Amino acid sequence: MASEAPVGVFDSGVGGLSVLAEIRRELPAESLFYVADGGHIPYGEKSPAYIRERCRHVAAFLRERGAKALVLACNTATVAAVADLRACYPDWPIVGMEPAVKPAAAATRVGTVGVLATTGTLQSARFAALLDQFAHGVRVVTQPCPGLVEQVERGDLDGPRSRALLAGFVEPLLAEGCDTIILGCTHYPFLKPLLRELVPESVSLVDTGAAVARRLAALLAERGQRAAGPAAPTRLWSSGDLPVLRAILPRLWREPVDVEALDS
Ligand code: DGL
Repeated sequence: MASEAPVGVFDSGVGGLSVLAEIRRELPAESLFYVADGGHIPYGEKSPAYIRERCRHVAAFLRERGAKALVLACNTATVAAVADLRACYPDWPIVGMEPAVKPAAAATRVGTVGVLATTGTLQSARFAALLDQFAHGVRVVTQPCPGLVEQVERGDLDGPRSRALLAGFVEPLLAEGCDTIILGCTHYPFLKPLLRELVPESVSLVDTGAAVARRLAALLAERGQRAAGPAAPTRLWSSGDLPVLRAILPRLWREPVDVEALDS
């Protein structure tokens, strides 16, 4: 595929825009296509089979539009579907993402790490394998966060409802003495300012967006597919409520962007 072809990035909703921002920083010359599968959110409360089906649909959509690589900017979709997508498209570079257990285990000073993520991610076999592989000697306290993704989708990044929900999820992690908290869902980096108000300064917050962007850059370079630029305007499709998305988008993504409907 031509190096000037776009990179396709995909999440269940707007959370993956936190990853898109890292990709834009790391790879300013790349043209970007983004799909928010908002009509089917939250993935975190759906079955793996349902998520795999949605991922196949969106991946085919981006592939048909000429994406030279696919980024699953969603932890929940990655644990459920990345292996399936790689089997469907063996020659297509596909970058997934998982909670940052390895860097958090290396960073903790007290030996206790907290993970905020969706129910689907925390219940998955891939997450269990991640702990087996990287959490040696470190206690990992997990906290599912039902309802939090929907708050970000509404554009409520700092209102009383989001504050109360987040405080309730963080409290058990602090009570267990965690000094490092993994943001294991791409929606949560948008809540970082609020989270910073709720946890002591000594607690580190870790997410994976920048690492995903670096991995994508390395993969494109390996394949001789880095774009020379300039990047075309970013295009965004959503299967969700377009007026709501248009209203909240300026808080989540700085570039002007066309929002189009994705048939679901
Ligand atoms: N943003 C997704 C993630 O990283 C999850 C959102 C959802 O539950 O739909 O896990």
